Amino acid sequence: MEFVVKSGAVAKQKAGLLVITTDQSGLSPAASAIDEVSNGMLTSILKRGDLPYKAGKSVLLPVVPEAACDQLLLVATGEGKSALKEKDYIKVVKAIVAQLKAGTIKDAMICVDDVDVAERDQFWKVRQLVEAIEYGFYRFEEFKSKPAPAATLKKVTILTDRKGSKPSKDAVEQGKAIAFGRNVARTLGNLPGNVCHPTFLADQAKDLAKGNAKLTTKVLGEADMKKLGMHSLLSVGNGSAQESKLILMDYKGGKKGDKPVVLLGKGITFDTGGISLKPGAAMDEMKFDMCGAASILGVMNTIVQLELPMNIVGMVAAAENMPSSTATRPGDIVTSMSGKTIEILNTDAEGRLVLCDALTYAERYKPKAVVDVATLTGACVIALGHHTTGLLSNNDELAQQLLTASNEAMDKAWQLPIGEEYDAQLDSNFADMANIGGRPGGTITAACFLARFTEAYPWAHLDIAGTAWSSGKDKGASGRPVPMLTQYLLNQL
Ligand code: BES
Ligand code: MN
Ligand code: ZN
Repeated sequence: MEFVVKSGAVAKQKAGLLVITTDQSGLSPAASAIDEVSNGMLTSILKRGDLPYKAGKSVLLPVVPEAACDQLLLVATGEGKSALKEKDYIKVVKAIVAQLKAGTIKDAMICVDDVDVAERDQFWKVRQLVEAIEYGFYRFEEFKSKPAPAATLKKVTILTDRKGSKPSKDAVEQGKAIAFGRNVARTLGNLPGNVCHPTFLADQAKDLAKGNAKLTTKVLGEADMKKLGMHSLLSVGNGSAQESKLILMDYKGGKKGDKPVVLLGKGITFDTGGISLKPGAAMDEMKFDMCGAASILGVMNTIVQLELPMNIVGMVAAAENMPSSTATRPGDIVTSMSGKTIEILNTDAEGRLVLCDALTYAERYKPKAVVDVATLTGACVIALGHHTTGLLSNNDELAQQLLTASNEAMDKAWQLPIGEEYDAQLDSNFADMANIGGRPGGTITAACFLARFTEAYPWAHLDIAGTAWSSGKDKGASGRPVPMLTQYLLNQL
């Protein structure tokens, strides 16, 4: 989508569709301006009660006499006694995006100057709008022999009559970059397991580094990892014909010697459960078990586009979890790169097995902080549903920074505890630890497992099992938590 920022008088703007907002306290400035040129048309429509005053309700006027636009969408923001809650603004944005998608218009002009969102500014409003439009117009049709007709809308102009155009222009740039990275993550997530395997992910990371002086991609194969003693990571891919990979993307946008933030993604390109085989129902969705990895590749795309002036390392631990005669057995004991031994009681708890060796490897970057992202536990879906990402950390300051970022980015997370009571559930009779801690607190014991490998640095873990994709008729990857992670990085500047 092409985005343009413009200032000028609302009633004079030529556009296929003009979008303005109002609330119940009286016509908003934009609505008044249109009302004046159209001889009180909006006043009569509102008097008749055609627009319910609830955030996101709207009325479409197919013709507006005397105004320069062809059509007008008037969106209600609420009663207007106080500033909008963020989630009500998102309802307004969703109503706008729905109309942009439904119509046959070629260009739209949107003015959100008249919406007041509590504690959020014009920059935030415009960025959310841009992100939502790019999200809404995303399509994944690579495998359709006949793609649906292309969208008619080609251009969106953000009209800011009174707020000055600088914040909106910056917001457009940032919003586009975040949406781009998020859509990259969605596409990687949506790709089937027979296409998107560990080597494919590695190639994506290499492609991104091509021609970019700030980014270097290095890929470790199974032989390299064997030398490093990553027997935990390697054990997961034992049953697969696909080679496991550890993908390292070193982005040097900051000063030499500045400690990097390390972002690590779980990249199980298909999770059958291994010998601890999963039930058949909806097993296809386990192609999404690399959505953590996809989000890291997405964020790397975003920061490359934004040319962020900081040092960031993106890591992806990629493997395919398959049953076969060479697969890991329940009860097998492996030695991780850290030297700690692990009794693999359930081969379906494989995410932590690939992550733990990658977390040990991360020590060599002397990181400022490490954040891992993983579709780690079904228990997290039970605890938080599909709306909120699970956050667990060994460092309160880091956890707070991520929660703040998640609120700003409207990419919600909620912290769960870790601690020694839970950690004890990982005790094993035969090795230093087991890879499962039983059903109670499954998300927490998974994080406790990871915490045993992260003592050298501030670390946080994002369990995106419930938020990385949707099932049913809207089945598809969400691209979360690209917005949260990008916001976290932006907040470090
Ligand atoms: N990838 C799954 C977690 C998952 C399941 C995410 C369903 C989203 C939806 C993970 O590898 C897994 O299988 N975890 C097990 C752990 C258990 C064996 C301790 C789980 O959650 O059942
Ligand atoms: Mn599993
Ligand atoms: Zn998994």
